[in-house]
Amino acid sequence: MTPRASTKPLIGVLEGRTQPVPPIWLMRQAGRYLPEYRKLREQAGGFLDLCLAPQLAAEVTLQPIRRFGFDAAILFSDILVVPLALGQSVQFLAGEGPKLSPVIGADGIGRLHEHIDLARLAPVFETIRLVKRELPPHVTLLGFCGAPWTVATYMVAGEGTPEQLPARVLAYRDPVAFAGLIDLLVEASIDYLVAQFQAGVDAVQIFDTWAGVLSIDEFSRWCVAPTQLIIDGVRAKIPGARIIGFPRGAGTKLQRYVDHVSVDAVGLDWMLDLAYARDHVQSRLPVQGNLDPLVLLAGGEALDNAVDAVLDAFADAPFIFNLGHGILPETPIAHVEQMIRRVRGS
Ligand code: CP3
Repeated sequence: MTPRASTKPLIGVLEGRTQPVPPIWLMRQAGRYLPEYRKLREQAGGFLDLCLAPQLAAEVTLQPIRRFGFDAAILFSDILVVPLALGQSVQFLAGEGPKLSPVIGADGIGRLHEHIDLARLAPVFETIRLVKRELPPHVTLLGFCGAPWTVATYMVAGEGTPEQLPARVLAYRDPVAFAGLIDLLVEASIDYLVAQFQAGVDAVQIFDTWAGVLSIDEFSRWCVAPTQLIIDGVRAKIPGARIIGFPRGAGTKLQRYVDHVSVDAVGLDWMLDLAYARDHVQSRLPVQGNLDPLVLLAGGEALDNAVDAVLDAFADAPFIFNLGHGILPETPIAHVEQMIRRVRGS
């Protein structure tokens, strides 16, 4: 018996079917540009407290669906809950971004747990179950994790760093120790994503925000290979698991990604040449993206033109409309509405 085609338009795209109107969601769609998010965030205390409070996290996940009617809800959480569940201290200080106790060399890696403590993340799975109950049937629920390379950049440096120098230096200086950290993150990510599927997500995205800073061989070693190991590990437990990859900034290295990573779709950043992406990536598999978050912030005619350019490039083949990176907190809500109307032709 052939499985029935999904009625969710976004899953339809991941199954290779072009939709009459491309499904749309936005990276960071739950967040500070929404007044209802800011209000709830004030009540919740710290950002991680919010991520680990199922009722509140479910509410925040649903806010952009209620307001805009997006085709996908993305679980409200953060990629840095994985280091937290590996025993690293993780904090988000107001206005400063994440602060972790840096993992220094083989010793530091040895002090982490051997396996991810999924019990620590039980509230995340509860959030998934709560959201699932509330979502309209045509809306896809997306889970996610950070790719090992991107998560490792924060674990090694203890914070966001320009061009991710501390992790890149460690990877060159002590590749054996660094590979140990990447292997640990591969195993942790498999367990974490499998648990998300078991709790009810329809598909997941693997965010490799800092893939672009790697030289080509390092890209194969620290982005491509570990991502494929995660995909194999997840699909061994969840056959047919739907997975979107987002190797931000990969540029022409995308060729290696599509050759060697068996994702169902690739997220494209806004820096890519649209014609290149259509001819060399979308010719191989469905794509998602790639409006510049800054043109969404700017609005006006520039926004209309940029939306049209993205639709002209990609909408005739399997395609999910999204930004090329997360929405910026200063983005006016009216611009998001303008963009959605343009995409949906309404
Ligand atoms: O997309 C969504 O709406 C789902 C939730 C989500 C968040 N972070 C919430 C968040 C997702 C998918 C992420 C992924 C994430 N987190 C990435 C990969 C994607 C990307 O945007 O590059 C990375 C690198 C992180 C790590 C992280 N989290 C940083 C560097 C920061 C600080 C910078 C910032 O934007 O504040 C965060 C904080 C964060 N994660 C916020 C939100 C809504 C803002 C925290 C707040 O409300 O104060």
